Amino acid sequence: MYTSQTASSKSASPYAIENRLQVQHLLALSQNKQNEGSDVVSGLKQTPKTLPPKYFYDDRGSQLFEQICELPEYYLTRTETAILQTCAAEIVQITGASELVELGSGSATKTRILLDAYNNLDLPLRYLPIDVSAGILETSARQLLLDYPSLSIHGLVSTYELALEQLPPTKLNTRTICFIGSTLGNLTPKECDRFFAHIANALQPGEYFLLGIDLQKPKHLLEAAYNDSSGVTAQFNLNMLDHLNWRFEGNFDPNQFEHLAFYNQSQSQIEIYLRSKKAQTVELRALDLIVEFETGETIMTEISRKFDLNAMQRELGARGLAPVQAWTDANRWFGLLLCQMEFPRRNASPAPNSIAAAD
Ligand code: AVI
Repeated sequence: MYTSQTASSKSASPYAIENRLQVQHLLALSQNKQNEGSDVVSGLKQTPKTLPPKYFYDDRGSQLFEQICELPEYYLTRTETAILQTCAAEIVQITGASELVELGSGSATKTRILLDAYNNLDLPLRYLPIDVSAGILETSARQLLLDYPSLSIHGLVSTYELALEQLPPTKLNTRTICFIGSTLGNLTPKECDRFFAHIANALQPGEYFLLGIDLQKPKHLLEAAYNDSSGVTAQFNLNMLDHLNWRFEGNFDPNQFEHLAFYNQSQSQIEIYLRSKKAQTVELRALDLIVEFETGETIMTEISRKFDLNAMQRELGARGLAPVQAWTDANRWFGLLLCQMEFPRRNASPAPNSIAAAD
């Protein structure tokens, strides 16, 4: 692990970006390289085949995801943004001066809505973005520091779990961990359990957790969001093969696979696959791996779970994360949930809560 205070000019003003930005790298490069690709090998050796969704996100994959967020069928991003715009002032009233820890901060577009709300109340601004991509984290941090002159940032280049175990000491009174964008939906129930345990461990009593989740809704709306008419989601899915090709010296031919996405009603999840158009053999030389595909054989590349807001509140409450307030849109398509870490007491039960609908 190493920390970089990104410059040290003696003549810099106290408000200079260099004095307000600290980036801590928790993932040493050697650690990153160790076991690289072992998840690809195990996923492609099992039946049915799977690949981890993290391989969507090379540079092109990240660009394609940005495009997905703008698609007319992909209601998630704009619905969550609209809810945040409606409830940010309320969130800030509830938390008071609080530093924002954001998991999977990416380009931090939605974060600005919360920072504006803290700013409007003249509250101090401190932001701790966590992302595995050092490049995206630093670029977006620098832009935020330009736009918010009183903001200070301590970024962590890290996986969620590692960062939650090693959060730096709180400088403001309290902190709010944000996990928005419904990324929770891409975790299996087992991964979700582990994740919530990490959140509960990382928070002190009285601190907050803000969670954005996509909600259950009619199948045709969900399937349209993951089978958009311009084919961007298909490109995003197929791009994983190009990514594996350059990363692991592979020879996947993306033209010989097709995108498949459908809603599995019994599991309340969208399932995304790559389906082989023919019998074929693929090699990933850097992983010393040869994989055979039959015609029609699939690789599962992602699940995107859709939640019930009340059930989620109960689940979080059972883990000591007492729901304080939930917000949703008029269609109840997306939910934002603010929870507070309980103070230890006997026979604790989740506080009653209300759900507010944004227009
Ligand atoms: C990142 N995540 C919340 C997206 C989702 O909707 O589950 C990923 C995605 N996959 C296909 N389209 C979008």
